[in-house]
Amino acid sequence: MDKFVIKGGRKLSGEVKVSGAKNASLALMPAALLADGESTLTNTPVLNDVYSMIKLLSQLGVEIKFDNHVLNINASNITNQIAPYELVKKMRASVYVLGPLLTRFGFAKVSLPGGCAWGPRPINLHLEGMKKLGAEISLEEGYIIAKAKKLTGAKINFDVPSVGATGNVLMAASLAKGTTLINNAAMEPEITNLIQYLNKMGARISGINSSILEIEGVDNLYGAEVETICDRIEAGTLLIAGAITKGKIKVFGADYLHLYSVLAKLEDAGCKLHINKEFIEVDASNISIKSIDVTTNVFPGFPTDMQAQWMALMTLADGVSIIQDTIYLDRFGHAPEMLRLGADISVHENRATVKGVKKLMGAKVMSTDLRASASLVLAGLAAESTTEVLRVYHLDRGYEKMEVKLKTLGADIERVTGSEF
Ligand code: EPU
Repeated sequence: MDKFVIKGGRKLSGEVKVSGAKNASLALMPAALLADGESTLTNTPVLNDVYSMIKLLSQLGVEIKFDNHVLNINASNITNQIAPYELVKKMRASVYVLGPLLTRFGFAKVSLPGGCAWGPRPINLHLEGMKKLGAEISLEEGYIIAKAKKLTGAKINFDVPSVGATGNVLMAASLAKGTTLINNAAMEPEITNLIQYLNKMGARISGINSSILEIEGVDNLYGAEVETICDRIEAGTLLIAGAITKGKIKVFGADYLHLYSVLAKLEDAGCKLHINKEFIEVDASNISIKSIDVTTNVFPGFPTDMQAQWMALMTLADGVSIIQDTIYLDRFGHAPEMLRLGADISVHENRATVKGVKKLMGAKVMSTDLRASASLVLAGLAAESTTEVLRVYHLDRGYEKMEVKLKTLGADIERVTGSEF
């Protein structure tokens, strides 16, 4: 297990480019299962989660090449429709293979994902969606067994907009007989990216960028090329790295409309932003950060995947801020670790109260999940003396070469490889 050793207190400056979006890739890759032919996915990030999905698809019989951020995926010779526990437990997004396997082959056996570092993360909406499309679903020995001769279009209403359930139903309905309507669909940019790909494959999906999607089923889908969107969460994390170190950095590649809620909060906090189609610049060089409340919400609200990073920024702000997570009610594993750095945070139910302190002091801290680890790296960049962030394998799931990017911006951060951390 690797750790990061960070000597904090350096103002970041310069330019950095964001990689492709993890959560887009994790939906696009299983969608390639729908086609009898080869697809090309460009701008794929080099991440452990992408390798986990490659492993899962490969064991289904998919042929995959991954070179220079380009994935070539050919699902012409699928040999089985089983997603085993050993792979699914490592990455919940594995459940995305359910819809494509079921709709193309009439059968899928997918392990239930099991526990998560925070809260319950049910998949009831995925299963209800498949049932509405006519699948017979049973649970046996920890596995979802889904069967259907041919899925048929249906009207589906989600009680809450779920990214994963929307993606799974979109994929399944694309090869169903007849028309499917999804009401209260997720509108995250990663879903838009998935719809772009499915339509290029020959699917007929309308309502893109809205919460009502209509899918006219087709008989076959074909391999296609799609560009993975840039990672809005990586972009937001890097911008906060600039802000928390009182630096001035330009982040290239991200679409500002994908993270507008975060940009607006950065401005409210006093950062100067320069936003255009090519880059987003944050300048916090001569300001003191103000305390600003956030409440997470589905897109285009403030993303839960930026909640921990925002908390890191607020630990050093002037005043008191309230951070509420309405998507994952107990996603606060980072808060007790931040206390070890000298932060003043109290968590009650899904609400954290953060009293800004004058300074953070370096310490050893432990990552508990992906975004928590990113937030601890941010806090470490601003803390006095040395911070060690242990278990950065969480971070490696979703950030491509984070320490290399931060170094190019002037951070003093080293990866130490070892088994004892
Ligand atoms: N939900 C249900 N039933 C379901 C599915 C979801 O009640 O069947 C609830 C969840 O409990 C949650 C809400 O709906 O309260 C939204 O969950 P969603 O299904 O949208 O989340 P997901 O698809 O499992 C994706 C991202 C997460 C991100 C969430 C929310 C991927 C691979 N994962 O998860 O990303 O936090 O959407 O935006 O796309 C991360 O990258 O760190 C991460 C956790």
